[in-house]
Amino acid sequence: MPRVAEGYSKLRRSAAGWTPKRPLVILRLMTANTEKPFADKVALVTGGSRGIGRACALRFASLGADVVVNYSRSAEHADATANEAAALGVRGIAVQADMGDRDAIVALFERVREEFGRLDVLVNSAARGLERPRGALDSLPQHLKHSMDVNLFGPWFCAQEAARLMEEGASIVNLLSPGSERYLPKYAPVGVSKGALASLTTYLAVELAQRGIRVNGVSAGLVDSSDGVRMMPADLIERYRQAVPSGRLVTPDEVANAVAYLCSDQAAMIVGQLLLVDGGYSLVGVP
Ligand SMILES: NC(=O)c1ccc[n+]([C@@H]2O[C@H](COP(=O)([O-])OP(=O)(O)OC[C@H]3O[C@@H](n4cnc5c(N)ncnc54)[C@H](OP(=O)(O)O)[C@@H]3O)[C@@H](O)[C@H]2O)c1
Repeated sequence: MPRVAEGYSKLRRSAAGWTPKRPLVILRLMTANTEKPFADKVALVTGGSRGIGRACALRFASLGADVVVNYSRSAEHADATANEAAALGVRGIAVQADMGDRDAIVALFERVREEFGRLDVLVNSAARGLERPRGALDSLPQHLKHSMDVNLFGPWFCAQEAARLMEEGASIVNLLSPGSERYLPKYAPVGVSKGALASLTTYLAVELAQRGIRVNGVSAGLVDSSDGVRMMPADLIERYRQAVPSGRLVTPDEVANAVAYLCSDQAAMIVGQLLLVDGGYSLVGVP
């Protein structure tokens, strides 16, 4: 099935000189599909190859968007996700770029510009730090720098580059964490970087709202089958599960639901907000 833009250019070519008066409007009406509200849009998900990022990439693909699946180390996972997206009838490409490397981020957005010429959604999901769990006092300088580079400056540089490509109606969502506001054991480097990212969300939201670009945050409770959860002791996960009023962990798809909602037209006046997806965990505290 040709996309609307391709269909239009074919129509123009075959019309040999005749230019329809309102071709795009007519074609859009013909192809209007409320189940594909992101048709003809492009979504970039950093850390889109696995976990929550993967769920977001596939959600936007299922809603009609072409997707760019960013990753750092595992091309195998990224290609698999991009192929799954393509199987949903959109373009899906995997692009390697370390979020801790500004030059790589600039090159990533240059690739998006070359391939698609536009960007409608940026989801900043890539994060590092859980692989070396540390408290505030025993965190080493190189771990702190790495967490801040990937979890804070990566989304910051991505937002700067995205702002050059995005137009009115576009959205950015930053993946935040309850560990930015409350104490989680051995989570200091990640928690502090997420706290700073929450603050950045506010500043970006105000500056970009003036251009009709919305920035929001989503903070999830413990997400099932993520790397972070796999690294946690089983008894801690069980205590957490018992403390969640909803009685279970969050699924990646449930986080993707919130991200997609915030990027949709239904959320047009939601600017700079933090949406919690935690089954009520934040209401009752740590186990
Ligand atoms: N899981 C949870 O319980 C939970 C709860 C609250 C918030 N969050 C937040 O949600 C986001 C996703 O978490 P997750 O658990 O779903 O992640 P995950 O399963 O560990 O996946 C991490 C993803 O990020 C990529 N990535 C890691 N470092 C990168 C870098 N330097 N540059 C580019 N990509 C990089 C990975 O690609 P490679 O495989 O190629 O390295 C992978 O695609 C994070 O921001 C996390 O802080 C998670």
